[in-house]
Amino acid sequence: MSVISKKQKLTPDQLIKYKQNQQKISMLTCYDYSFACIANQSDVDLLLVGDSGVMTLLGHPDTTHANVEMMSMMTKAVAFGAPDKFIIADMPFLSHRQGISHAVQCADKLIKAGANAIKIEGIDGHQEVISHLTQSGIPVMGHLGLTPQSVHSLGYKVQGKTFDQAQKIKQQALDLQHLGCFSIVLECVPDQLAKEIAELLDIVVIGIGAGAFVDGQVLVLQDMLGMTQHMKPKFVRHFLDGFSCIQAAFNQYHQAVQSGTYPTNQESYTLDISNHKQSKTPKEVVSA
Ligand code: KIV
Repeated sequence: MSVISKKQKLTPDQLIKYKQNQQKISMLTCYDYSFACIANQSDVDLLLVGDSGVMTLLGHPDTTHANVEMMSMMTKAVAFGAPDKFIIADMPFLSHRQGISHAVQCADKLIKAGANAIKIEGIDGHQEVISHLTQSGIPVMGHLGLTPQSVHSLGYKVQGKTFDQAQKIKQQALDLQHLGCFSIVLECVPDQLAKEIAELLDIVVIGIGAGAFVDGQVLVLQDMLGMTQHMKPKFVRHFLDGFSCIQAAFNQYHQAVQSGTYPTNQESYTLDISNHKQSKTPKEVVSA
């Protein structure tokens, strides 16, 4: 299947220009080839191969179950489908906590799988890793606020609500900029804090549950398509009632099979009787 190119792939520098021009940036998660093909022909700016893919695609309860093989497989599929999009891949749980050389190997796998940048959650204790990766020419996106890989210590709660927490996140954001990140994701923080951080930083601040005053937004694909039923955080907007639409299509298919209305003649391969001569007998073949 070929993919029609519509646009040039964005670069980290262009994204920072978007911010300077106050042009908002849209990012969506994407984990597979078929959705990547659609995203490639959409106006969405960035694709994130998030470790949330192990939840939405594979059914795991949280993102601590992701590993670099899963992330590479999803990244490769997205890169095949969306060659025109700037693709960011998540460094999986603990992959940046086992020393620089392990982090470099993981980042290398993700880049070779087709990522243009990697995303790393948190900062405390892995500043050196982030700095090494950015100095190695790998664009790094930070991720602060609610960091889902820390679910067992933080839970899924809004972060930065107290003055001290807010000061800490602001400082971490400045530090990530200083370490060479081209962008950060801010997840589930009060919108005023997100606004202050977006104004404070020269790099791009993408929000999820962080209000409107940031440089761009990211949503999980299955959430914004209304395909996930179990929970709907306040910040998720359904741009499609995907669950019901797809369920209805499945049921229509089932009905059509049951009633015999699928497949029709037009949907079947039929023999053209007029052209259909009886095949030659072995004797005729030999004498021909
Ligand atoms: O993995 C993911 O989907 C993410 C988004 C929540 C930003 O990191």
